[in-house]
Amino acid sequence: MIELRHITKRFTTSHGELHALDDVSLTINDGEIYGIIGSSGAGKSTLLRCINLLERPDDGAVLVDDVDMLSLRRGALAGKRRRIGMVFQQFNLLDGKTVYDNVALPMRLAGVPDHQIRERVETLLGFVELSDKANTYPPRLSGGQKQRVGIARALANNPQILLCDEATSALDPETTESILNLLQRVNREFGITIVIVTHEMQVIAKVCERVAVMSLGKIVEEGRVLDVFAYPKEPITRRFVRTIIDDRVPAPLMPLLKQERGHQEVWRLTSVGTSASDPILSDLAREFGIATRVLYAAITEIHGEVLGVLIVQAIGEPAVLERARRSVGEDGPHIELQDIDQLRQAIGEGVAA
Ligand SMILES: Nc1ncnc2c1ncn2[C@@H]1O[C@H](COP(=O)(O)OP(=O)(O)OP(=O)(O)O)[C@@H](O)[C@H]1O
Ligand SMILES: [Mg+2]
Repeated sequence: MIELRHITKRFTTSHGELHALDDVSLTINDGEIYGIIGSSGAGKSTLLRCINLLERPDDGAVLVDDVDMLSLRRGALAGKRRRIGMVFQQFNLLDGKTVYDNVALPMRLAGVPDHQIRERVETLLGFVELSDKANTYPPRLSGGQKQRVGIARALANNPQILLCDEATSALDPETTESILNLLQRVNREFGITIVIVTHEMQVIAKVCERVAVMSLGKIVEEGRVLDVFAYPKEPITRRFVRTIIDDRVPAPLMPLLKQERGHQEVWRLTSVGTSASDPILSDLAREFGIATRVLYAAITEIHGEVLGVLIVQAIGEPAVLERARRSVGEDGPHIELQDIDQLRQAIGEGVAA
């Protein structure tokens, strides 16, 4: 288990003191894939580097498996660090050394005997599917291949924890997908705890179980990835979620709301699980005689589960709409009444328009 308690980190810059981390606390469980997302400069890398003390916090405690990292002397800290692998955005490979030597390096530094190194490098290159590239030099590899080497190197000393700092940010979407699949295999097959720092919500959606959202050196929201996607609380979290589920009513549909002469409401329905594809609109029509128009709809897979978001215009008598809303909310999706004027404002159309 990784525990960060009340971590503070300040940097002195030419503009004065910068509070990179401000009282950050976080617990990451063994065997999970944990995501840290935030905008540039939020403090993600600094926080990640506090876990293996590449960055020493000014205040607070760092516990890895109940060991107080800040109390360790140099030798003990080096030993502990060996069990914490790290993967970087720019791969950080040695261009003048072969793939084999890059992967072997951490073991050589740890004094592992040559025959063991050979066996381990072969196993690792097989695992990352680069056995045929052992004698190639990094400049001749694609970005995805370089990152596979980076991952093999990070696994060399049998780490319990893998820290990934924007490991897929330099890669195209397809290669990102394959690296994320590889990280999932690392997690499942070796039981390694993985901490992923990213600014891409699709990375969080695909592989993370829990996520922390960082802004200006603080964690502003934290929780199960599915919950954070379904019910984001903070504006910054909503902005990140919108990169995957852009739940805004398209401007060209707004006249539908303006032109409607009958009583209308706008509902936002959120469902988790396969019930997201239940025929809710036809049920509403049959049971309550309510007409609906779809203003936005998305069904997305988030960390292996289904999340559905539906925004509809519902037309009917006020009392009937209210009854229907209550009935839907009882056993169906979470239902939220949306303010039509706010919707107009959200797309830049004045309330008076
Ligand atoms: N060694 C340093 N000296 C001075 N300031 C630093 C140092 N390292 C980080 N900072 C500052 O601390 C803040 C947090 O930086 P950090 O690299 O942790 O952010 P980040 O969330 O990882 O951003 P990015 O997404 O751009 O990588 C930034 O304002 C950064 O400029
Ligand atoms: Mg960073």
